[in-house]
This record gives sequence, C-alpha cells and structure tokens, in this order.
Amino acid sequence: MAGRGPQIRRRRSVPIPRAVGCGLLLLLCGCAGGAPSTLDPGGVGARRVADFWWLLFWISVAVFVEVMALLVWALVFRRHPRRRLDRSDPVRFVVVAGAGLPFVVLLAVYGLGLRDLAALAQPETPPAVTVEVTGHKWWWEVRYAGVDGATANEIRIPVGEPVRVRLRTADVLHSFWVPQLMPKTDLIAGKIRETWLHAERPGEYRGQCAEYCGLQHAHMAFLVVARPRAEFDAWLARLAEPAPAPDSDAERRGRQAFLQSACVACHTVRGTSATGTVGPDLSMLGARWSLGAGAVPNDGGHLGGWIANSQTVKPGNAMPPQPVDAAALPDLIAYLESLR
Ligand code: CUA
Repeated sequence: MAGRGPQIRRRRSVPIPRAVGCGLLLLLCGCAGGAPSTLDPGGVGARRVADFWWLLFWISVAVFVEVMALLVWALVFRRHPRRRLDRSDPVRFVVVAGAGLPFVVLLAVYGLGLRDLAALAQPETPPAVTVEVTGHKWWWEVRYAGVDGATANEIRIPVGEPVRVRLRTADVLHSFWVPQLMPKTDLIAGKIRETWLHAERPGEYRGQCAEYCGLQHAHMAFLVVARPRAEFDAWLARLAEPAPAPDSDAERRGRQAFLQSACVACHTVRGTSATGTVGPDLSMLGARWSLGAGAVPNDGGHLGGWIANSQTVKPGNAMPPQPVDAAALPDLIAYLESLR
C-alpha cells in the first residue's frame, strides 16, 4: 500500500477548457437547424406561449442583475465597515425586497399565466374545420369531421383561421405537440381531448408525440401543412374521392399484386377491395412526407425496404415482414407511389 502513496498524491490536471468547450458544443447543438422551436411561432397559440416565455426570461434577467448588484454592494460594504447602512434598515429591506417584491412579481406572473391558459383553451372565433386525430403505437390517424376518407401523420389545415382538433388514443397515452403552433395536449384512453391550431402563415410545421409511449415514441412524428383556404378545400375534396386509378402497366400490375397480398387485411385504398383499418389508409400514400411517421423519407427505395421488412426500419411496429416476390416489388412501389 505504501508504494501507492505517490500515485494517489499525484496532482490530476482538470481539463477545464476542454470541459467548457464540450459544454458550449452541447449548447450549440440546440441551435441545429430543422428542429422546430417554440420561440419561432407560426401560430396564434404558440405566439402567446412565446410572448409569455420572453416575459419570464426578462424578469429572470432583471432578478439576476439585481441579485448580482446586491452581492457586489454587500461585498463592498463588507470591506468598508464604516460605510455600512444604519442597523435599523436591513429588516425593512429584507421584507420589502426579499418578500414583498417577489410576491408582487409572482402574483403578476401567475395572473398573466391564468389569462394565457384561459385564452389557449378556446380559439377567439369558432372553428369551421374539425380534424379527428387518433394516436396509435406509433402513428397518427387523421380524419376530418363530415368527410369520408383518412390519411396518416399529416394534418392539412387552412391558413389564417382556427381549426378544431379532436384527439383520442387507440392504445396508450400519447401527447399531441406542434411546437410552432400550439402547446401539448395529452391523449388519454377513454377520453376525447380537444385543442386547436391556428397557423398565421402557410408552411409545414412539424409535430411530435410528446409523451413516452414505447419503443418507437421518437418515431411518432407528424406534419401540419397549412395552405390557403382554396388549396385546402381542393385537398379535402380529393381526400374523400377514390384513390387514383393506375396509369401505367407497372402500376396496374402493382395494384393487382397489392390487392392479392396480405396488405389489404390492414390497409385501406379507397375505391378498391382493400378496406383494412389496422394500419394507415394508403389512398394518398405517395404524397406523404415520410414513411413510418417520420422514420424515413418517402421515396421508392425506402418504400421497398419498408414493404419487405419494416421491422429493420422501425423495430416493434405492427407491420410484419412481407413475403413479396422480388420481381413484383418495383410494380408494387410504382403503384403505391402513384397514390396521391
Ligand atoms: Cu406516442 Cu410517444
């Protein structure tokens, strides 16, 4: 044991610059482009939240500056005892600055928070459009009240007006969150929850399940697509129509292969004999932004891989590997991509 003494006493250099560098790097990772930020609001609800966030931020900056100023002041007076304040003042000072002022600030913030909560509960004008969203492990089923037809992981809304969103879950708890449009609303089994979206400008807003719901919780994303009213109406009309008929020989062969496969037991393609409801409706699959609720991009290569064995792409999802004839796969891809 005596031989270890010098080793234990050896001074270990603390790589402070490296630690600070790593910390800064981690912080900067938060600035990476692409991630939707609540501080870059595109909708009425998120703007209210962002405004409140900035208010809290500036209040905390003011408190920080005030505390630092008091600290410096205390240090200065500690060094010069003769310049100390009158002994009777500290009690009043502690009561006013330490209890009175924080009480007023917290009360004001609490009041403003209640005002914002009330404002977020309902949109200012009654919505004309209602979207019915159901959370599944791990994808979002999207329907519109009064419209026959469904899509998945993509919610189209008209820009410049509020849209009601009715939320339910088919299995476990999920949470519906579009950081740039609206704060979270939890999906609770057996209940219908409601929220609303009001996009102020056209665009695509990424949404995400914000409640841990199992293995593929991270791959339970969706896209809110806000478009001018006329464009939205045209899209909604198309949603109710039968899926487009095949245009080419490859698409025709693909449709035949699709309708003869096990796919039809779980998926719907409107206007065909495929009427399954276990998995997402595929009638507009070709136009969707991703496969597997944000797992991979929606293109031919990824679609082929998904059909053959989606478990290698998104392990644990409900779709079993498909025994598809390799020669038929390109036709199947061509058909599914033509569904728009
Ligand atoms: Cu659904 Cu997390």
